[in-house]
Amino acid sequence: MMPESSNNNPSHKPVRSYVLREGRITKGQARALRELWPQFELPSPDAVPINFEQVFGRHAPIILEIGFGDGGALFEMAKGHPDQDFIGIEVHRPGVGSLMLNLEKENISNVRIICGDGAEILKNNIADASLDRVHLFFPDPWPKKKHHKRRILSPGFAELVADKLKSGGVFHFATDWEDYAEQGLMRLEQCSRLVNLAAAGGFSPRPESRPETKFERRGQRLGHDVWDVLMQKQ
Ligand SMILES: C[S@@+](CC[C@H](N)C(=O)[O-])C[C@H]1O[C@@H](n2cnc3c(N)ncnc32)[C@H](O)[C@@H]1O
Repeated sequence: MMPESSNNNPSHKPVRSYVLREGRITKGQARALRELWPQFELPSPDAVPINFEQVFGRHAPIILEIGFGDGGALFEMAKGHPDQDFIGIEVHRPGVGSLMLNLEKENISNVRIICGDGAEILKNNIADASLDRVHLFFPDPWPKKKHHKRRILSPGFAELVADKLKSGGVFHFATDWEDYAEQGLMRLEQCSRLVNLAAAGGFSPRPESRPETKFERRGQRLGHDVWDVLMQKQ
C-alpha cells in the first residue's frame, strides 16, 4: 500500500536517514501515484521474505536500489537490462511518481517499487543471500557532524547489506561528499564479508554501468567530485 505523506509518531522516534516532506508534486506524478501504483507496487512487501520469483514470474538477477530519488538511474539500468529484475525503495512520493511515469512511457516491466524505509525493508522483508546487487547512489550526506548519525551507511547497514547479498554479489555506493566517501569506505571495509573491488583503501573508477543521477549532476554544478565504492560479498 502507498504510505500516506506523513508519519509522525511522537512516542516512537528512531533515527531516520530521511525527513519526510511531501514537497511539490506535479500533476503527472499525482496521476502516476493514483493510477500506476498498482502496476509497479511490489505486491505484499510485508510478506517475509519477499518472493522475487513470484513477483516477477521468472528467475533472474535481482538488483535493489535504496533511495532512488527521481529514479533516473534505476530507469536507465532497468531499460538497459531487461534480463534483470529491479526493486527500487524510496520514501519520497513525488520521486516514486516520476519513476512510474518513465516506466509507463517506455513500457518497462522489470521494476517494482516499495515506498518506505530501505534499511527497515532490507532488514525485515528481504531474505539473506538473495540479492545480486545493492545500489546506494548519492544518499543524503547529512553534512553537519551532529547529523552524521542519520547517514544510512552506518556500520550496521554495511553488515545488513552483507547479509542480503548473494556470495559474489556487489554493493555499489557513490557519493559526492568526500568525508562520507571516506567514512563509508572505512565502514564497508570493516565488514569482513565484503571485499573492496579496488585495492584496499581505494575508490573504484566510476563504472560505465552507473548512469549519472540527478544529485550527481547537482554536485557537479557545485564543483564536487564523485567517489564510487564497489564491495563484493565473499
Ligand atoms: C540525495 S537523494 C539522492 C537520490 C538519487 N539516488 C540521486 O542520486 O539522484 C537521497 C534519496 O534517498 C531517499 N532516502 C533517504 N533515506 C532513505 C531510506 N531509508 N529509504 C528509502 N529512501 C531513502 C531520499 O528520500 C532521497 O530521495
